[in-house]
Amino acid sequence: MSLMVVPQGEYTLLRYPLRPKEQLRAWDAADEYLLGAVAGTAGREGDPLDLRGRTLLLNDAFGALSVPLADQRPTMVSDSANAIAAALQNLANNRPDYKLETRASTDDLPFPVDVVLLKVPKSLTLLEHQLRQVREVAHLETVVIASGMARHIHTSTLELFGQILGPTSTSLAKKKARLIFPTLDLDLDPGPPVWPQTFNLDDGMTVHCEPGVFSGGKLDSGTRLLLQNMPRIPAEAAILDLGCGSGILGTAAAAADSHVTFADISYLALRSAEATYRERYPTGDFRSVACDGADDVAEASIDVVLNNPPFHDDQAVAEATAWKMFNDAHRVLKPGGELWVVGNRHLGYHAKLSKLFGNRDTVASSSKFVVLRARKAA
Ligand SMILES: C[S@@+](CC[C@H](N)C(=O)[O-])C[C@H]1O[C@@H](n2cnc3c(N)ncnc32)[C@H](O)[C@@H]1O
Repeated sequence: MSLMVVPQGEYTLLRYPLRPKEQLRAWDAADEYLLGAVAGTAGREGDPLDLRGRTLLLNDAFGALSVPLADQRPTMVSDSANAIAAALQNLANNRPDYKLETRASTDDLPFPVDVVLLKVPKSLTLLEHQLRQVREVAHLETVVIASGMARHIHTSTLELFGQILGPTSTSLAKKKARLIFPTLDLDLDPGPPVWPQTFNLDDGMTVHCEPGVFSGGKLDSGTRLLLQNMPRIPAEAAILDLGCGSGILGTAAAAADSHVTFADISYLALRSAEATYRERYPTGDFRSVACDGADDVAEASIDVVLNNPPFHDDQAVAEATAWKMFNDAHRVLKPGGELWVVGNRHLGYHAKLSKLFGNRDTVASSSKFVVLRARKAA
């Protein structure tokens, strides 16, 4: 279940953070296909790819690329603090003698870059951002190979490669994965970027949105329901916007004297939240933390937690993240502090909150969503 066998070697890879009874593997057929292409055994004919120059690995989820290629000293670039932590943990378990250079998606990429290996992200806007970043640091000889599961590779995906990097071809599907081979055309004009974007709420608040950030430049209906039913915030309150996305909830709840913490695993989400908050409160007190749940927030330090937990294709992953967020909220709340959650009615957050906090109220509901409140015992 956790042994990945690829041309570069055999590695035990785990999905971090660990979950009891994990059913999912830490890699997929698109990782295997890409590593085969690097070795010259799958998808492309010829010698192994020369990785002696600077190699970038984009969107490696759990180290499936970084661990086998660690001896080539690649740079891993990711929008997820969890992905970086998982890759480092798997590297330490498998190849403790190697180090991995990592960069957040909000960092500048190193220049120049010779090889780019990219796992296609689910978000097309994030892909666009990354292809533009790659273009900025590429030279005429730069080799780019992307891979993904065929169900995530659409005509629009391939068009983006063509528009931003140059003429693009694809491999045959193998175990439902495909490789994408763009040929760099540095004379191509990719046009101006359309991200980041902003939109305004009814009260005039401007929301800043970087590519790939939740709700894609418009207000989500669950977020809207919580915005219409916000808690009364005490003076000088410490507010935690947990899984902040573009920072709508934390900024809307804040007053000029609040102390706001934005927490998210996505670096682009945090950059959006910072911009959203700063526009409303240019001198207000806030900090942002890139971490799993509220791992980097101190115990008993928060008066109000606001939370719209993430959805995920895999129900078990979504449930585990929501449960982690509620547990973290309980830990970081001061006695008497409150957690306000919005979620899909059918997700059964009621029961989870009752179990953890010993109480919960339904504050509001719509046909699809429900806003719940739970108070930590004083
Ligand atoms: C449904 S969105 C809500 C965003 C924002 N609060 C809103 O209502 O517009 C969930 C957010 O949780 C973040 N997230 C997902 N998994 C996380 C984790 N393990 N720890 C912290 N944040 C996470 C996602 O990046 C995303 O921004």
